[in-house]
Amino acid sequence: MRPVYVLSGPNLSRLGTREPDVYGAETLADLAALCRETGRELGLSVDVRQTDDEAEMISWLHEAADARIPVVLNPAAFTHYSYALRDAIAQRTAPLIEVHISNPAAREEFRHNSVVAGVATGTIAGFGLRSYVLALQAVAELG
Ligand code: DQA
Repeated sequence: MRPVYVLSGPNLSRLGTREPDVYGAETLADLAALCRETGRELGLSVDVRQTDDEAEMISWLHEAADARIPVVLNPAAFTHYSYALRDAIAQRTAPLIEVHISNPAAREEFRHNSVVAGVATGTIAGFGLRSYVLALQAVAELG
């Protein structure tokens, strides 16, 4: 089975209790189970990780780049301001899909800009936890 990292950024550990009207009632554990199950169906071995720490996220992106591992990445708030994350993603050696649970383009103005979108393979946003499923399907199809 092909390895894939599913990486989620700050505050996503709080899914289920965090603004459920925006992010839904399901938890990070539910998301991890969904990603692993989807991965099994697609022949992908999914490694699900979450961090609130920018340095840790960057080290995981370096790890993925060194091992040529595709990434499904929800950068959370880092999306909107982290040039360090952008520079790490620019080093990617395999597809990297940016995902968002909500549709940032339909929310506050500061969420309209993604500083990472330009170095991602593509972006999937606004489909709830299904954004991750669609991103894993894209990874499987991109090979
Ligand atoms: C998010 C959208 C971001 O604007 C926000 O900061 C998040 C979650 C999403 O998945 O919809 O933390 O990335």
